[in-house]
Amino acid sequence: MKIGILGASGQVGTALKENLTTNGYTPLLGSRKATADYQTNADVAKAADLLILAVPGQTVLDLAKQLKADLKGKILVDVTNAITSDFSGPKTFAGKSQTQLLQETLPDTAVVKGFNQTGSANMIKPEGSVQFFAGDDQAAVKQVTDLAKQMGFAPQALSLQDSPLLDSLGFLWIKAAIQLNKQPNLKFYLK
Ligand SMILES: NC(=O)c1ccc[n+]([C@@H]2O[C@H](COP(=O)([O-])OP(=O)(O)OC[C@H]3O[C@@H](n4cnc5c(N)ncnc54)[C@H](OP(=O)(O)O)[C@@H]3O)[C@@H](O)[C@H]2O)c1
Repeated sequence: MKIGILGASGQVGTALKENLTTNGYTPLLGSRKATADYQTNADVAKAADLLILAVPGQTVLDLAKQLKADLKGKILVDVTNAITSDFSGPKTFAGKSQTQLLQETLPDTAVVKGFNQTGSANMIKPEGSVQFFAGDDQAAVKQVTDLAKQMGFAPQALSLQDSPLLDSLGFLWIKAAIQLNKQPNLKFYLK
């Protein structure tokens, strides 16, 4: 399975690349501009089977529209947290999560929400912390949870209708990490 990271130069992309590389993968690295170290996001979307979407929350739907044809038949893991401009909570869209809108935008792509309820340092060393993954394509969710387990997380599968809960949990992680001064190492466990 070829893995690609969209927005690979950011904190999340860099951390997930490190974990995946440690676990024997050679992820393709996407950026808005091709350089010596990065391909374009479009080239990565064309070449990979499983894409990790690690760009700022407000850019997600535009990028999805641009890459729609390249993402057809692929798995897209949505790591992003869309947060209101006044930092009061996750953005919702008439009760739906941005991940649900992403799935509506990309009907021929299996969208799976996850890796958003933790910090980038934990993406390098998850140490058995829990990570929920929400999607409607059960085979895709299984592929992602199997991968997350290999990376060192304790994954739990949910359906796409649960994705607003994951946005809330992602926001709770940010708030708790700030309050406890534990950014970026706070971990959630299921015990
Ligand atoms: N940081 C964390 O600990 C953490 C944890 C959980 C979830 N998240 C979520 O994961 C996502 C990425 O977080 P991050 O901290 O890695 O963000 P980041 O460092 O700010 O950005 C990631 C990358 O996105 C690309 N990018 C920036 N603006 C873009 C645009 N308009 N269109 C397309 N690509 C653009 C940039 O790469 P190029 O310039 O190379 O294109 C950038 O390096 C966010 O949605 C965040 O909420 C973050």
